[in-house]
Amino acid sequence: MLCVKQLVESGCLTTVPSKYVSRRSLEYSEGRFADQEVVIPIIDFSLLTCGNAEQRSKVIEDLGNTCREWGFFMVINHGVPQKVMDDMIRGSQGFFDLIDEEKHEYAGRALFEPIRWGTSFNATADKAFFWRDFLKVHVHPHFNAPKSPTGFSEIIEEYCKGAREVADQLLRGISKSLGLEETYIENIMDMKSGAHQLLVINMYPPCPQPDVAMGLPPHSDHGLLTLLTQNELSGLQVIHNGNWVSVNPLPNSFFVITGDHMEILTNGKYKSVVHRALVNDKATRISVGTAHGPPLETVVRPAPKLVDYKAQQPPAYRGIKYKEFLELQQCNQLNGKSCLNR
Ligand code: SIN
Ligand code: FE2
Repeated sequence: MLCVKQLVESGCLTTVPSKYVSRRSLEYSEGRFADQEVVIPIIDFSLLTCGNAEQRSKVIEDLGNTCREWGFFMVINHGVPQKVMDDMIRGSQGFFDLIDEEKHEYAGRALFEPIRWGTSFNATADKAFFWRDFLKVHVHPHFNAPKSPTGFSEIIEEYCKGAREVADQLLRGISKSLGLEETYIENIMDMKSGAHQLLVINMYPPCPQPDVAMGLPPHSDHGLLTLLTQNELSGLQVIHNGNWVSVNPLPNSFFVITGDHMEILTNGKYKSVVHRALVNDKATRISVGTAHGPPLETVVRPAPKLVDYKAQQPPAYRGIKYKEFLELQQCNQLNGKSCLNR
């Protein structure tokens, strides 16, 4: 498998090989650039977990409004130590810097193999390749991690545990913001029996023609929430009010995106958000995402308490097993919100 990193390191590329030309211009897909600087909502996690009753209900209200109107936000004061966040990025770089033989052990593997290293999105289905190498690890309910580099497994474990705690509390706040008891989402999704967490590490090497290649095409994520962190390079864009908004996360924050299963579960009240990753010609960008979903066997459908036949809010989505949805999304080309079965 030829990954993008190898391609870049093998010579002085001045143009993008035709296999990687995935767009003609920045305007190729839906959405324009936002005219003005958009201020991305910020959620102060410490107020959600330790604030007084008034602060807590204000954050929950903000969380609800943000999920309804934006579908993405930054979380600050989340309690995961800066060192763990930094180590995660450093460890990720260390993994991609391993000699190819070590990474090849994880290459060409099937979707539900615990550890998978690859390139593009789905190299067997992509018409044009994306300028991205990845490592995907199923970290919960059964923990897995690559053997190398030394210490990486411990870093992954600590980082993912921290991210899980943040996601769990956000889901409780989101549950309350919908007028439901705080454990409604985790109960109805059977989360206690083993919530699924997928770690996805993206690496985007510098690209000689950043405006003809793409790191990841416009898509929404599977799962309820995705928590993202990255190195100092920007490249992520999200759609807001029909415009592409560039994300420049605050240091030591998580950037949170609502996923397709949030949309299904809330019967469309909180919609998943379309985003994409651009590349740059300066340096390698690394982003680390954790997708938080229910157990793989859970059938996700609109929550009964959010369906109201009398108020003309019948179920807008059919129920589908999380595992099947994942297969549908990951075994095809990544394409907007095409997996949401309205
Ligand atoms: C993704 O959609 O998972 C990629 C996010 C990023 O690279 O920031
Ligand atoms: Fe994504």
